[in-house]
Amino acid sequence: MVSVLAPLLIIQVVTQICVSLKFVSHPEADLNLEQKIKKRGYPLEVHQVVTEDDYFLTIHRIPYGKRALRNRTGQRSPVLLVHGMGATPEYFFVLGRRSLPYYLADRGFDVWILNARGSPFSRKHKYLDIKKDVEYWWFSYHEIGVYDLPANIDYIVNKTHQKVFVIGHSQGNTCYFVMSSERPDYNEKVKLGIAYAPSVIIYMDNPLPVFVSYFWNIFQIIYDFLQLGVLLPTNNTVNFLTKLLCSETTYFSQVCVNYLSIVGTYESKLITKETGSLIFSIPVVEISARQIFHYMQTIDSGIFRQYDYGEGNNLRRYKSKTPPVYNLTNAVAPAAVFYAEKDAYATVKGAQDTIKALPNAILDYKVPYEYFNHIDFLFGYNASSLVYKPTVKLFKDFDNGKFNKKVKTR
Ligand SMILES: *[C@@H]1O[C@H](CO)[C@@H](O)[C@H](O)[C@H]1NC(C)=O
Ligand SMILES: *[C@@H]1O[C@H](CO)[C@@H](O)[C@H](O)[C@H]1NC(C)=O
Ligand SMILES: *[C@@H]1O[C@H](CO)[C@@H](O)[C@H](O)[C@H]1NC(C)=O
Ligand SMILES: *[C@@H]1O[C@H](CO)[C@@H](O)[C@H](O)[C@H]1NC(C)=O
Ligand SMILES: *[C@@H]1O[C@H](CO)[C@@H](O)[C@H](O)[C@H]1NC(C)=O
Repeated sequence: MVSVLAPLLIIQVVTQICVSLKFVSHPEADLNLEQKIKKRGYPLEVHQVVTEDDYFLTIHRIPYGKRALRNRTGQRSPVLLVHGMGATPEYFFVLGRRSLPYYLADRGFDVWILNARGSPFSRKHKYLDIKKDVEYWWFSYHEIGVYDLPANIDYIVNKTHQKVFVIGHSQGNTCYFVMSSERPDYNEKVKLGIAYAPSVIIYMDNPLPVFVSYFWNIFQIIYDFLQLGVLLPTNNTVNFLTKLLCSETTYFSQVCVNYLSIVGTYESKLITKETGSLIFSIPVVEISARQIFHYMQTIDSGIFRQYDYGEGNNLRRYKSKTPPVYNLTNAVAPAAVFYAEKDAYATVKGAQDTIKALPNAILDYKVPYEYFNHIDFLFGYNASSLVYKPTVKLFKDFDNGKFNKKVKTR
């Protein structure tokens, strides 16, 4: 009897394992960015610009939304979205139909999305090879701010003959305020900059990064010695496995969402498993080591200033032993700062001090949800009601001239 049933039992067990391990992924997980946008019925344009230092950059554009389809000729205010470190425009779309670009396009905006140098759609250079030449990776948020943002803004102004609204997330704002301090002419081309979770004046409320940052010099020496440009090279095997393990119906998907909570620095209460699985279907983005070192220097010195190359090199480059400070007094374009309670990178104090340092802050907005964190701005299910809705209201109020006074600083 047993010998008859044994094979059946084995078949049963194997079937059970196969069923429970059936990796059913998110319906958009296998689509590339263009396919995702087209599938949802939005128009997509892909543009290319060259920076003054010869990096080729892609710009994505959703010129109008679904609701606005009937009126393609109406004038739309251009909005430029600037992603953070280790990010790509893909991350702006992980909330599906509730995503920021669709939200803006459907409300009459012309949405442009920057792709910073080194990110997945901007990996070419006139002379350097991203795979072979370590010099390609010799940039921090300084170069993104001084070259990539101006190239994007010039291009948009040229195409639309209008000033641009800018929305940055995280490092996107660091770059934005580098631009507005170092290249003050560009303040003229920006209508209003909105900073989601700005990492400019940084107070870490976690001792570990502060401790690690103290040793930035040692990390830099090791990286320079080994001729490494990127922090961690992307690896297809690893990307494939995370995509598989984090797919929506697996046992691991909650683990993946929990991992995101670590990245977001506090438990995320607004990231669904569905969103988590889509996030992990996006291949890891390579980060230049200098982006990290520049942040470590800022955390260590407590000063928002240019890259520290060491005394000798600083003298040669800057004619001073310490790097020049970014002068936020120059950042005269109107600015609105959105920040969250549970954000260890862009802390409440850091955001409020940034507001104080800005000469023309028009809004101080703390997201009215006590558990909102750094990545909820893009990944949190309720971002549309808590963040995008007030963003659009601000743009419309601003266009209607309701903001001509500065915000009261604390
Ligand atoms: C189209 O948009 C323009 C500018 O926003 C507006 O003046 C015009 O009335 C709109 N047309 C229709 C049919 O809604
Ligand atoms: C602006 O557009 C004109 C005409 O298309 C072109 O010649 C010029 O190079 C453009 N400038 C920039 C900065 O894109
Ligand atoms: C990815 O990582 C695995 C495990 O460390 C390694 O065996 C493999 O060679 C790597 N693949 C690439 C393309 O670097
Ligand atoms: C910052 O810029 C303002 C205005 O451009 C100038 O008055 C001030 O001296 C500058 N501060 C520093 C430290 O360079
Ligand atoms: C988020 O949205 C859900 C569904 O609409 C709602 O039940 C919940 O109260 C919202 N949470 C916050 C913090 O807004």
